[in-house]
Amino acid sequence: MASTIYLVLMFLFFYMIVEARSVEFIFNGFNGSEKALSLDRASIIKPTGLLRLTSKTQNAIGHAFYSEPIQMLDRSSSSSPNALSFNTTFVFQIVSPSEGKGGYGLAFTLAPSTQLPGAAAEHYLGLFNSTNNGNRSNHIFAVEFDTVNGFNEKSDSEGNHVGINVNSMQSVASETASFRYDASRSEDLKLESGNPIQAWIEYDGETKNVSVTICPMGEDKPIQPLIGPHHVDLSEVVKESMYVGFSASTGKKTSSHYIVGWSFSTNGAAPPLNLSELPIAPHEKNSSSFRPSVIAIIASLCSVTTLLFAILFLLMVYRRKWRPFEALENWELECPHRFRYQDLYTATKGFKKSEIIGVGGFGAVYKGRLPSNGNEVAVKKIMTHNSIQGLREFTAEIESLGRLRHKNLVNLQGWCKRNNDLLLVYDYIPNGSLAGLLFSRRNNTVLSWEQRFNIVKGIAAGLLYLHEEWEQVVIHRDVKSGNVLIDAEMNGRLGDFGLARLYDHGTLSHTTNIVGTIGYLAPELTRTGQASTSSDVYAYGILLLEVACGRKPVETSNFILIESVIEYHQMGRILDAADPKLNSAFEVKEMELVLRLGLLCSHQKPKARPAMREVIRYLNWEDELPAIDDFGSSDSLRVRPKFMEVVSSDTITGSYPSSSIGNITTDSMDAGR
Ligand SMILES: *[C@@H]1O[C@H](CO)[C@@H](O)[C@H](O)[C@H]1NC(C)=O
Ligand SMILES: *[C@@H]1O[C@H](CO)[C@@H](O)[C@H](O)[C@H]1NC(C)=O
Ligand SMILES: *[C@@H]1O[C@H](CO)[C@@H](O)[C@H](O)[C@H]1NC(C)=O
Ligand SMILES: *[C@@H]1O[C@H](CO)[C@@H](O)[C@H](O)[C@H]1NC(C)=O
Ligand SMILES: *[C@@H]1O[C@H](CO)[C@@H](O)[C@H](O)[C@H]1NC(C)=O
Ligand SMILES: *[C@@H]1O[C@H](CO)[C@@H](O)[C@H](O)[C@H]1NC(C)=O
Repeated sequence: MASTIYLVLMFLFFYMIVEARSVEFIFNGFNGSEKALSLDRASIIKPTGLLRLTSKTQNAIGHAFYSEPIQMLDRSSSSSPNALSFNTTFVFQIVSPSEGKGGYGLAFTLAPSTQLPGAAAEHYLGLFNSTNNGNRSNHIFAVEFDTVNGFNEKSDSEGNHVGINVNSMQSVASETASFRYDASRSEDLKLESGNPIQAWIEYDGETKNVSVTICPMGEDKPIQPLIGPHHVDLSEVVKESMYVGFSASTGKKTSSHYIVGWSFSTNGAAPPLNLSELPIAPHEKNSSSFRPSVIAIIASLCSVTTLLFAILFLLMVYRRKWRPFEALENWELECPHRFRYQDLYTATKGFKKSEIIGVGGFGAVYKGRLPSNGNEVAVKKIMTHNSIQGLREFTAEIESLGRLRHKNLVNLQGWCKRNNDLLLVYDYIPNGSLAGLLFSRRNNTVLSWEQRFNIVKGIAAGLLYLHEEWEQVVIHRDVKSGNVLIDAEMNGRLGDFGLARLYDHGTLSHTTNIVGTIGYLAPELTRTGQASTSSDVYAYGILLLEVACGRKPVETSNFILIESVIEYHQMGRILDAADPKLNSAFEVKEMELVLRLGLLCSHQKPKARPAMREVIRYLNWEDELPAIDDFGSSDSLRVRPKFMEVVSSDTITGSYPSSSIGNITTDSMDAGR
């Protein structure tokens, strides 16, 4: 009995020790938190609930610490005391003057007292001064968010950096402020932009590693920390009992430094902040120096701006696309088809290799599932090594293509730009490309004639829509079996429409204007570079021949599909050109129609080619195909474009530089494969 009581007491004792050691708190705004915080010098809690460390006054210092000291050393386990783990997250805003740069910065701080007497402003951020800087007796650990170039030569010229500091303003690690979603790419983040930024600081007492992560508030926490994990043994820095909080300072340059929300824990992850409750600071301007008349003007300007912002806000809310803190240029806000990078990143499991469903000259295509609605999409990642100029025009065009809707098109759902990458989001089409089904040796299933006939009719309908039925004429420019995707009902859907035309704006490449794929290029294209609906019809004709014959347009320099069909035709044995894999299981009338229509569409003379509307009438037996003699002289059919001096359909030779984008595509870049 006594031993039970003893055990219970022991348990309670240990429980209390553990309790006493672990600290956890959260401030979603600081309204009513005056007692919980120890404020020093310039720091105040504003009525709105903002913790303001400094205003825009020169040489100001502000400190704000959690009032209760925190047990930071664990003496229980080993002989030498070990610093305890902790996690913290907070949202800050640094609002600099409207003109010029602000200063200096703020720092998350572990310090032995809530006041740091003697500490200096400017570069010292209210933590150190010129005599004690670097002295181990400071017992200060800080993570600085500094906007002025100072002690760290490594940081960029503008000084916009984050650093880990131990007893000194000389950082043990520092990085230009940016946030990253994967190892290869990062986006700069201007600390003093005035926009709220969320930071996470994690210290692991076991591995003695610290990591610092930042991103614009509202974005998901980046997977990659900005700094770390970096080895810093805090056991040698902290005292038994420490205070945790913030310090900030101004100098000749001034900014308002705000903490908007903060949580901290020595026992697990920091409690997540409720971002919707945080009292975000307005980007107020320094008004003290303005004369009254100026104030009036500014006030009216402000109200106009406020009104504009309100309208913009309502518009965005209406579109349910409000992404407040993704750094967007104004024009981008008006693009309903713009996707969040984070969503595409999540959808494709971080652009994981295993999610790649196609690779081509542009980049890779990933399969993904949108987190918002669970829809499957294909995300095409076009990598450009030089920045895309005229991107605005480019996206305007994509925006308009995003409105195209037809059952025989692979609909473009939207886009996203990220640094030099352009991401295009398409419907996901499960059955791969027509080229894959026609030519793949792995594929044992042979497309039946019925399926093939249905597919070419579908593609004709899709092309007609692009050429004639939509509000603008859209020239596809890259019609080919590799760009035809087959959906679950075995209907053909044309992908990548209009995209080729976009490349032509010179936005992505400065090389030749000829766009398309060898074997599908109408002869006049190679002469003039002028694409037209008629050159699309030419490529469609080649597609018809591919489907009927089951062969690629150019297999070797000795086999050009169209020439071979012409020869059969001239021998009066056109049906011999039919795909042997079909084992003669086709409707003779239809096969003959498709072969002859293929020749007609791929006529050397643009004028001789039918329009898509006529093509559909032929395919539906509404009109009779003109007799074979009407094709013109066979010689004119046999003019080989210079282009065709190629080794195989997958290799370009000759004078066309392969740019980073590759205007001339020899491989299929299938949106949904
Ligand atoms: C802060 O608290 C005061 C009363 O204590 C209240 O009047 C005020 O509205 C609160 N502000 C916010 C932003 O919640
Ligand atoms: C620096 O700070 C220490 C206290 O930490 C103080 O004793 C000293 O006088 C200060 N030095 C200067 C130059 O202000
Ligand atoms: C560090 O500070 C302590 C006390 O403030 C002082 O005695 C010591 O000389 C300083 N050390 C250095 C290297 O400046
Ligand atoms: C701790 O940081 C060091 C580098 O400072 C790194 O090599 C090590 O892998 C990190 N450990 C963990 C657990 O992250
Ligand atoms: C801090 O949070 C990370 C995850 O965010 C977690 O893995 C780690 O265990 C936490 N550290 C502590 C001391 O709880
Ligand atoms: C965040 O705060 C809002 C407003 O106070 C509240 O409606 C919401 O439930 C909170 N969310 C969480 C996760 O606590």
